[in-house]
Amino acid sequence: MSAGGREGRRGSARGIAIAVRDLRKTFVLHNLGTELEALRDVSLEVRFGECLAVDGASGAGKSTLLRCLYGNYLASGGEIVVRGERGEVDLATASPREILELRVRTLSHVSQFLRVIPRVSALDIVAAPMIEQGQDPGAARGRAGEFLARLNIPERLHALPPMTFSGGERQRVNIARGLARRARILLLDEPTASLDRHNRQVAVDLINAAKAEGAAVVGIFHDSEVRDALADAVFWLGAPPGR
Ligand SMILES: Nc1ncnc2c1ncn2[C@@H]1O[C@H](COP(=O)(O)OP(=O)(O)O)[C@@H](O)[C@H]1O
Ligand SMILES: [Mg+2]
Repeated sequence: MSAGGREGRRGSARGIAIAVRDLRKTFVLHNLGTELEALRDVSLEVRFGECLAVDGASGAGKSTLLRCLYGNYLASGGEIVVRGERGEVDLATASPREILELRVRTLSHVSQFLRVIPRVSALDIVAAPMIEQGQDPGAARGRAGEFLARLNIPERLHALPPMTFSGGERQRVNIARGLARRARILLLDEPTASLDRHNRQVAVDLINAAKAEGAAVVGIFHDSEVRDALADAVFWLGAPPGR
């Protein structure tokens, strides 16, 4: 299914944030002397202010698609046109410098697991992308603290590296990091998978607030309640259930 052709939906008057055309991703498994086709003929569009949920069976290529949209995996074919601050960039052909610039200004990827860095506090992990954007470090840390507090990370933990945090706490730091920076495009890989009900709702509210401010969201949501609360459309990889 294409995410296009949904005139009259919320946010449809806004511009296109991401346009994927005929995306193909093949992994070369050198040690096995073989190739694995993870994505084929993927075409979709996401507009600013809209959320597209990516769904499909385990191994269907959902995370691979998100990594391609972040420029982490290089497309094997097709186009991934992202609307950046300075115009459109095709991630399939962009230079590393263009991709890095998009990541600072436009794209935010919330991975399934927080990458923890020894000795870097939760607060600094959340503030770092904002400081990289050129924001005042004090203001960035202030906003980082607000987001951690919204996500119920107790203040005594803000100054600690998340190495010793629980899975759910780490994931909340990850969400705070991905959302506090006001990226125009959010790529969310099962952001609420390890959260309790209350924090799941906080995350949903924060993501919906980002949408209301005009962010485009592409998300993998393993929880159908979360998906229903966020998604304007669903993009199926592989056959949808019941077909
Ligand atoms: N870096 C990689 N190298 C080789 N194969 C990969 C790599 N990343 C993903 N794959 C393969 O691509 C397929 C899709 O994986 P993935 O995108 O993680 O699926 P999903 O997120 O839908 O569960 C799987 O068969 C997986 O093993
Ligand atoms: Mg995945």
